Amino acid sequence: MINGNGWLKYCIWEHSTSVKELYARRCRQEAEEMTCHAQAAELLGPQVTPGDTLLDVGCGSGYFFHSLRSRQIPVEYYGIDAAPSSIDIGRQYMPDFGLPAERLQAMRIEDLDGEVDFVTCINVLSNIDNYHRPLERLLQCAKKMVILRESCREKAEYRYVRDKYLDEGQDLKVYVNAYPQGELVNFIESYGFQVRVETDRRTGGQPELIIDYPHYWKFFIAKKQATN
Ligand SMILES: C[S@@+](CC[C@H](N)C(=O)[O-])C[C@H]1O[C@@H](n2cnc3c(N)ncnc32)[C@H](O)[C@@H]1O
Repeated sequence: MINGNGWLKYCIWEHSTSVKELYARRCRQEAEEMTCHAQAAELLGPQVTPGDTLLDVGCGSGYFFHSLRSRQIPVEYYGIDAAPSSIDIGRQYMPDFGLPAERLQAMRIEDLDGEVDFVTCINVLSNIDNYHRPLERLLQCAKKMVILRESCREKAEYRYVRDKYLDEGQDLKVYVNAYPQGELVNFIESYGFQVRVETDRRTGGQPELIIDYPHYWKFFIAKKQATN
């Protein structure tokens, strides 16, 4: 009558062969480094002390690890993603590059708990219903810094749209939201962080169409403030 398989059935990342192939190529370093991953790694590098831990939330298959490794950033990388098939791809290929398979875990942000030094969350929250609860989880886990790449505008835009680039026969929708920048910054600050906003290098502040819908990418660098 009923079952608990709805997440997998409706998750767009479980139903795109082309995305899975792209993620596998990124893991095998057969695809160009993403500009936003280069930018995130450069933001992170100067902040890291050897042995610090980093959790990459919504990591796809964990290929951001390559951006850290190629710049010799001495951080212990962990990744979670809600799509188990993406994590399986990472677990298949990333150990060849020095990332143990168990560092990648299938997990939804909503279920996350624990502590790490750094959190990165790149191109994820705009595809989720809203940002408050998932972002709260990230802010509560991070001891030093959270680096986000998010679609933001002056005013919020919420869209729940069909992804027509999925495998044949898949008729699924995904959120393509843009969050109100000032509100997002205030929200992050209310958890004891100081926030700096940086222009996204790939798009230079211009909208970018992904699955035919505009994204307004910006980087948010949130540094945890010392508490007395
Ligand atoms: C656009 S992809 C970005 C992947 C990677 N961060 C990158 O920059 O290439 C968004 C990712 O978020 C993951 N995701 C979506 N909802 C999630 C959730 N609730 N918890 C964890 N991951 C989620 C998807 O499975 C997908 O891999």
